[in-house]
Amino acid sequence: MKLFLDTAKTDEIRHGLDMWDIDGVTTNPRHVMRSGMPFGQAMQEIAALFAGTDKPVSVEVNPHLADWEPIVEEARKLAALSPNFVIKVSASEAGFRAIRELSQRGVRTNATLIFSVTQAWHAARAGAAFISPFIGWRETHGDPAADLVPEIRTMLDHYHYPSEIIAAAIRNGRQIADAALAGAHCVTAGFAVYADSFRNPYTTMGEAVFQDAWDETPKAKD
Ligand code: E4P
Repeated sequence: MKLFLDTAKTDEIRHGLDMWDIDGVTTNPRHVMRSGMPFGQAMQEIAALFAGTDKPVSVEVNPHLADWEPIVEEARKLAALSPNFVIKVSASEAGFRAIRELSQRGVRTNATLIFSVTQAWHAARAGAAFISPFIGWRETHGDPAADLVPEIRTMLDHYHYPSEIIAAAIRNGRQIADAALAGAHCVTAGFAVYADSFRNPYTTMGEAVFQDAWDETPKAKD
């Protein structure tokens, strides 16, 4: 399962590349806003960090665009900025039409804001390279989310659609594990979620136990 970092902050991406060997990045308008950079600058700086790699960077079209032709136009401009860029398009009727057009023109897309298997099926049929079910958002609103990724995976496998699932809006290590067990191709989560996933209180406790044992082991006389 590929590990994508869900952020537009370049310091987090640098750390992720250096320490975690992240497989790519997913951004969205809120992440760009939180980076504190204008959109164009954020895109330029993130693209530079991935230049010369084949790691995908998801960048989202202007969310105000409601018709498919302007979505396609903007997506093509964004895609021209970097070979790493995969264009995020919302899971609407116009969005799926745009995804189909972009796919036919060789532009990779990430169908975002997916909350049902039916939306994922529309995305797969339209030729989306990636499909992003938002697990955490469903749970925030009290809806069951655990079945979404396994059901999408079943649907994709059933019809041999090549789209990859990105389990998105992941809030904790258990959801990362669930995504892996359900056969998600990729997972995307924020910096803090991954940082937490490297820590385990039993491991910390065990390290202290072994450090004490190490210190109390008789030392050889020189
Ligand atoms: C996924 O691609 C989205 O960017 C992301 O998971 C959105 O969720 P969040 O910002 O609420 O975590």
